[in-house]
Amino acid sequence: MERERLRQFLEFYQDLGIASLYKREAATEAVLPGVIPAVIHEVIPVVIPEPVTVMPPTKIPETLLPLAPEGDSLLKISQDIGDCRRCRLCEQRNKIVFGVGNEQAKLVFVGEGPGADEDAQGIPFVGRAGQLLTQMIEGTAAKEGIPLKRAGVYIANVVKCRPPENRTPQPDEMEICGQFLFRQLEVIQPKAICALGSTAAKAILGTKEGVTKLRGNWHKWRDIPVMVTYHPSYLLRPYNQDAKRESWEDLKKVLHFVYD
Ligand code: URA
Repeated sequence: MERERLRQFLEFYQDLGIASLYKREAATEAVLPGVIPAVIHEVIPVVIPEPVTVMPPTKIPETLLPLAPEGDSLLKISQDIGDCRRCRLCEQRNKIVFGVGNEQAKLVFVGEGPGADEDAQGIPFVGRAGQLLTQMIEGTAAKEGIPLKRAGVYIANVVKCRPPENRTPQPDEMEICGQFLFRQLEVIQPKAICALGSTAAKAILGTKEGVTKLRGNWHKWRDIPVMVTYHPSYLLRPYNQDAKRESWEDLKKVLHFVYD
């Protein structure tokens, strides 16, 4: 209230054409009989404080952003991405890696971002990690008596352009590109999503928890169940064999949930 009164007061003086005011300070010398105390006059410009307004929070968590635009489709999303220049990842990419697979898939796998092979071909998970993913999907499905090939699922990444040196995508890159992933998921409406690695988990669930904590249990993106598991690149390292077994368990769970 004090602030508002001050604002009105200053506005009034500004309307009168007064651009600065003098602030009278207290006397700086002892007052002796017959001595006029020195008084400092400080010139202060009239600066009208803005009315105080309380803004609503501007940062809406990605997972709560509005649903996809009316009549959205994978084609429209890919057209909207166009020759994307929205972030620095465009500078060194060869091909935008949009996504691949069955557009009506009941299961979507989400990775982190394209590597060198994917960047060259424009298709996700075609390099070494991709071959392992394909083996895992097809091998586990076959063992579990589920007739499923890689072409039956949909595969996409959080970022559609290869990060230089395969570095982890930065938060702004994930945010900018994540909107397209979310539209893809909205259009496909799978029965479940499998997030491969911590970048995918972070983007989809908005969490900072690591894969070890998240894996093996169901989470949700909007109303769609999400299973987090290890990224296939992690499983390629020879010392991560326990993780390999756990990944197979996670995948089995996902496949039975989706296809039984
Ligand atoms: N790693 C990913 O996360 N995505 C790919 O497409 C390839 C490797």
